[in-house]
Order: sequence, then C-alpha cells, then structure tokens
Amino acid sequence: MSELLFKTATEEEMIAAGRAFSESLEAGDVVALVGDLGAGKTHFSKGVVSGLGAKGEVTSPTFSLVHEYPGGRLPVFHFDFYRIDSPEELIRIGWDEYLDEDGIILVEWADKFPELLPGGMIPLHFSIEANGAHTVTRK
Ligand SMILES: Nc1ncnc2c1ncn2[C@@H]1O[C@H](COP(=O)(O)OP(=O)(O)OP(=O)(O)O)[C@@H](O)[C@H]1O
Ligand SMILES: [Mg+2]
Repeated sequence: MSELLFKTATEEEMIAAGRAFSESLEAGDVVALVGDLGAGKTHFSKGVVSGLGAKGEVTSPTFSLVHEYPGGRLPVFHFDFYRIDSPEELIRIGWDEYLDEDGIILVEWADKFPELLPGGMIPLHFSIEANGAHTVTRK
C-alpha cells in the first residue's frame, strides 16, 4: 500500500516537506529517494539536512560521490546512485561502513542498485503530476 505524504507546489514547499519528514527519522534509517528526473529529490534532501540541524549547503554529490553533513541531531550521508557506475564502486567508497554509522543515509536514484539497499529502508517515490505538483509517496 502506498501513502501520499506531501504534495508541493514550489521548491520551497518541497524543502519544508523534507524538514517535516526529518522529525520522524531515527539513527540508522536509510531513505531511498526514487522517481522522475527533476522531481525534487535534492530539494527534499536539503530539507532533511536542515531539519536535522546539520550544517552545509546541500548539492548533489558528484566528484566525491557522497556528501556528509555532521553537526545536527543526526549526521546525514547523501548519496546519488545516478553518478555511480557499479555496485563495486560503491563498496569501494565504503558503503558498508556508512550503513554501520548511527546516522541517516539519503540515496537519490536508489533503484539503480536495489541489491545494495537494506531491507528496512524507507522507500519514497517522487513524481511530477500533470498539474505541475511535485508529490512524495511512501511505497
Ligand atoms: N514543487 C516542487 N518541488 C521541488 N522542485 C520543484 C517544484 N516545483 C518546481 N521545482 C523545480 O524542479 C527542480 C527539482 O530539482 P531537484 O534537483 O530537487 O530534483 P531531483 O529529483 O533531485 O533531480 P535529479 O533527478 O536530477 O536528481 C528544481 O529546478 C526546482 O526548482
Ligand atoms: Mg537530485
């Protein structure tokens, strides 16, 4: 069963959605952010980082492959599988160690390597509706 969590009209509303969602997060949570190109996964991530009180400007991880945001209620580790070529590359940068951390892992394009995700992950689906609203659904 899927549950519509947020329907947003602007990027600011998507950031606010991430901030509100962050209140429910607990140490060790892995959040899979999946869905349409440009649907708002990075803006939602900005809100999660801000809501947890971690420091830093959130941008999509490119060269470093993972961005770390310490200093808040929980540290956040932000991955974007779009930029990662193979499961081996992810293992090499320490995926298993990140899973052992007591932080929050956010993964954009998580469906690219489903075999690497833990069973207890939180699956969030992002989509753009015909009327332009950007929605977040928990699958
Ligand atoms: N309601 C909305 N929520 C989020 N973004 C919106 C909304 N309305 C318009 N936008 C625009 O849509 C784009 C969303 O970009 P964002 O980088 O957050 O998406 P993304 O899902 O991370 O993309 P990608 O698939 O490239 O990783 C931005 O340009 C933003 O300004
Ligand atoms: Mg993105």
